[in-house]
Amino acid sequence: MKKSIYAVGGTFLYALLISSFITGAFGDPTEECQSRNQTYKISDSEQCDKYHECGKSGKLNERLCDDGFVFSEEIRGCDYPHNVNCTGREILQEPQSIHPHCPRMNGFYAFPPVDSCQKFYHCLEGKAYEKTCPEGVIFDPSKGACIHPDLSHRVDCRPDTVLNFTCPNYGKKFARLKFGDHERVAHPTNCRKYFICFADGRPRIAGCSLGKVFNPKHGVCDQPKKVPQWYANYMVFDKAITHSVA
Ligand SMILES: *[C@@H]1O[C@H](CO)[C@@H](O)[C@H](O)[C@H]1NC(C)=O
Ligand SMILES: *[C@@H]1O[C@H](CO)[C@@H](O)[C@H](O)[C@H]1NC(C)=O
Ligand SMILES: *[C@@H]1O[C@H](CO)[C@@H](O)[C@H](O)[C@H]1NC(C)=O
Repeated sequence: MKKSIYAVGGTFLYALLISSFITGAFGDPTEECQSRNQTYKISDSEQCDKYHECGKSGKLNERLCDDGFVFSEEIRGCDYPHNVNCTGREILQEPQSIHPHCPRMNGFYAFPPVDSCQKFYHCLEGKAYEKTCPEGVIFDPSKGACIHPDLSHRVDCRPDTVLNFTCPNYGKKFARLKFGDHERVAHPTNCRKYFICFADGRPRIAGCSLGKVFNPKHGVCDQPKKVPQWYANYMVFDKAITHSVA
């Protein structure tokens, strides 16, 4: 067992040596450097957070983005990884961070899902700033944004679990739903909120704008006086609604 691990390690090292032989110091600029009036930046062929600065005289300088950023060919500068396509140049520098919540000096990092799907750290120059997404939305690292859980691919933060709500079973995917691709279901305790239930059973939370309440009969946000069963609640409902769909 031990022997085979060594063998694999040896092959890997050998491969590294060969590749650095061929390409010089790991990676080449992806374009010719031409002398222009201004210096400009060129991506590296192998390493996403490396770039080459082409000077006015046509001389190249190798540079690294700050740890956690990668080079964007689109903006010809360093950007967050979720904005950049690193396909084919996946190598990255060694992480520089020693902060327990920052795998790299910069970037957005989700909390472990057992602690929170909504919370994340924004790391800036090695310092961590704790942030929380608004109610009903989760942090998605692949997008670097707070999004509805039904739009996220985070398997550890399913919409039912995050929203503590299970949609009624509408059966077949192409069942006729009242609002085309979804039904609307009243929130069990808050008269301004409701759940959008998609055909495949994923819920999404939504809410009415201030002054309106959800009318379960018609599935729209309505004047409170038109929704008598909710009227009593109207005086105590919370004002912290962030998403208005209707
Ligand atoms: C270079 O800069 C000079 C002076 O600023 C300008 O006249 C010239 O058009 C520029 N050349 C190019 C290729 O941009
Ligand atoms: C990323 O780049 C690769 C190679 O250039 C391309 O095949 C792929 O479609 C790109 N992906 C996205 C999401 O643009
Ligand atoms: C989840 O929903 C149920 C039923 O509406 C409610 O009794 C319970 O308190 C909720 N749990 C949390 C953590 O909000």
